[in-house]
Amino acid sequence: MSGPALEFRQVTVRYEPDDSPAIAAVSFAIGPGERVALVGLNGSGKTTLLAAAVGLVPHDGEIRFAEERLTRGSLAAVRERIGFLFNVPEDQLLFPRVLDDVAFGLRRRGVPAPEAAERARKALDALGIERLADSPLHHLSHGQKQRVALAGALVTGPSLLLLDEPSAGLDPPGKRALAALLDRLDATMILATHDLDFAASLCTRFLMLVEGRIAFDGKDAAEVKRRWEL
Ligand SMILES: Nc1ncnc2c1ncn2[C@@H]1O[C@H](COP(=O)(O)OP(=O)(O)O)[C@@H](O)[C@H]1O
Ligand SMILES: [Mg+2]
Repeated sequence: MSGPALEFRQVTVRYEPDDSPAIAAVSFAIGPGERVALVGLNGSGKTTLLAAAVGLVPHDGEIRFAEERLTRGSLAAVRERIGFLFNVPEDQLLFPRVLDDVAFGLRRRGVPAPEAAERARKALDALGIERLADSPLHHLSHGQKQRVALAGALVTGPSLLLLDEPSAGLDPPGKRALAALLDRLDATMILATHDLDFAASLCTRFLMLVEGRIAFDGKDAAEVKRRWEL
């Protein structure tokens, strides 16, 4: 497929009509297979941008997925192709048992239970946590929950992954393992983070948000660091 996997055209989000925008006139296009780090300080608009992309907050302007515009009518179909990792894994883990949680995205799409369970086990295996399949979620550490949430995002084979602070709360070995694992995927990826080293270990392009606007869009990690330290 040619053309961008995801494109924002002059996208603005306001949480309240009188507030200043959380993201303002944001435009960019991401090609298929690109891995883009969305960097910025707390409150710069990273989560808002990802939430707008999956229709969780209303926007002005245009958001397009592989040429299809995000509208109320296309939202459900567009979401089918996206894997989303929330900032806090607890926000997306719904079931008491790991395997049921990971299988949920498949069950929702009508995949029969035995096949869904088998594919969920494979997704867990690919993340090195097959042994947790039958564990109760509340017994897991933060890093394990993060992986379970990621398995749930990956199980449907999404072509676009939106990851919100995936390295938050992980120790250095946990971060390296996560980076290695994401590195093996060929999905298009946007990774929101304020962890520049983690971003640089995976991404080849950086979009930097400052107060809801794109202050930098380029490949030079050193330049991002320089601006970061200002
Ligand atoms: N649900 C919300 N209601 C009102 N304002 C919000 C909401 N979520 C975020 N904001 C505001 O939008 C701005 C961007 O926040 P956010 O997208 O969470 O930034 P980041 O993810 O970069 O920390 C901040 O000023 C924040 O206070
Ligand atoms: Mg955020």
